[in-house]
Amino acid sequence: MNPVLDAIVSAASRTLCGEGLGEPLPADPMPLVKEWYDQAKASGKYADFDAMTLCTVDDRGMPSARIVLCRRLWTDPPSIGFFTNRDSRKGQELDGAKRAACVLHWPSEQRQVRIEGSVERLSDDESDAYFQQRAVISRLGAWASQQSRPLPSRADLLRAVAEQAMRFGVDLLKPTGTHAIPRPPNWGGYRVHAQSVELWMGGTGRLHDRAKWTRTSPIGTPAQWHATRLWP
Ligand SMILES: Cc1cc2nc3c(=O)[nH]c(=O)nc-3n(C[C@H](O)[C@H](O)[C@H](O)COP(=O)(O)O)c2cc1C
Repeated sequence: MNPVLDAIVSAASRTLCGEGLGEPLPADPMPLVKEWYDQAKASGKYADFDAMTLCTVDDRGMPSARIVLCRRLWTDPPSIGFFTNRDSRKGQELDGAKRAACVLHWPSEQRQVRIEGSVERLSDDESDAYFQQRAVISRLGAWASQQSRPLPSRADLLRAVAEQAMRFGVDLLKPTGTHAIPRPPNWGGYRVHAQSVELWMGGTGRLHDRAKWTRTSPIGTPAQWHATRLWP
C-alpha cells in the first residue's frame, strides 16, 4: 500500500485514461462493436466507414490482406459479413481455410476492432438481397469480373462490362433505372463468426485501453465470452 501512489493513480485515471472500455469489462463485446460501427456511420467523417482489412491464409500458410466493406454486423450470433467474388484469391482462401481475421479502424474516434474466427458462406437469399441493392454498373461489373486474374488491359475490362450491358439491355453511358440483373453464381457473401474480439481505444500519452474477449461456447450455441484486459 502506498497512499501517495494510489492518489496519483486515481487522479491520472480521470485525466489520462478517460472512461475506457469499462471496469469491469462488458460481458459481451458485440453491443459495443455495434455502437462503434453505428457511430462511425453516423459521424459522416468516413467515405467508407465500414472499410475493413480482411486477412486470409492460403493452403501453405501464407497470409494475405486487403480491404473489403463490412456490410453486415450481427450481435447474435456474433459475426460480421461482407461480399465478394468467390473465385477471387480471398474467396478461394476463405473457402479453403474457413478462417479469417478482420480489422476495423476509425482513426477520428481512436478505435480499433479485431475479429477472428471461422468462415461460412452467406445464404443465396442474403447474397441476392444485397446484390439487388447495388448500382446497375456494379452489378454488371460483378458479371464481367474475373477478380484476381490477370487482365491484359483496361480496354478488356471495359469490353467485358460493355458485353454484359448489352446482354442485360443496359445503356452503359446511362446505366440508371431498374434492370433485372441477377446475382452471378460466383458472387456472394461470407460471414465470419467471431471466436475472438479485441477492442482498442486510444488514450492520452499512449495509455490506450485494450481488451480481448474469447468465445468459450461453441458456434451455434448462445455466445459466452472470457474477457481479459491486455497491456496496450
Ligand atoms: C475501400 C475499398 C473497399 C473495397 N471493398 C471491397 C469489397 O467489399 N469486396 C471486394 O471483393 N473487394 C473490395 N475491395 C477490393 C479489394 O481490396 C481487393 O482489391 C479485391 O477484392 C481483390 O482481392 P483478392 O485478390 O485478395 O481476392 C475494396 C477496396 C477498397 C480500397
